[in-house]
Amino acid sequence: MRLPKFALTAASAVAILLGSVGFTLSTSTAAVAGDVDEGKKIAFHRKKGNCLACHAIEGGNLPGNIGPPLVNMKDRFPDKAKLKSQIYDATSNNPNSIMPPFGKHGILSKQELDKVVEFIYSL
Ligand code: HEC
Repeated sequence: MRLPKFALTAASAVAILLGSVGFTLSTSTAAVAGDVDEGKKIAFHRKKGNCLACHAIEGGNLPGNIGPPLVNMKDRFPDKAKLKSQIYDATSNNPNSIMPPFGKHGILSKQELDKVVEFIYSL
């Protein structure tokens, strides 16, 4: 069977895209193991994330209940980018949010924020 030239081009573009997605996924999974532990420390630290002031999180003592318990995060945030945006700047999802904009206000560095996202995503 002869395929028109554009069909072949589209097919190879899809193959290239799929290839790069596979690569991205495998590199990000490799980073996860240590990041989850470090993210937990940052999230629980009273002078860093202090997420426990408002959220119940498994393994955390004396949580507050101003925000919802952080459980089943992969079900609630299938898209990790949305989870990151909530933690980077909660007002982007809820203009009246009282959750501090951890990324936007530089409360957490970019690296710290990424690790916290990995930890929260593991819950
Ligand atoms: C001052 C209280 C407060 C602190 C501190 C806080 N949050 Fe929140 N958070 C909230 C509130 C309130 C909500 C409910 C949604 C909204 O108003 O943005 C929320 C929502 C969330 C959500 C969305 C939950 C869902 O299922 O919709 C995530 C994820 C989250 N917070 C993560 C964090 C992380 C991670 C930290 C620490 C780095 C943190 N929060 C610190 C108050 C807080």
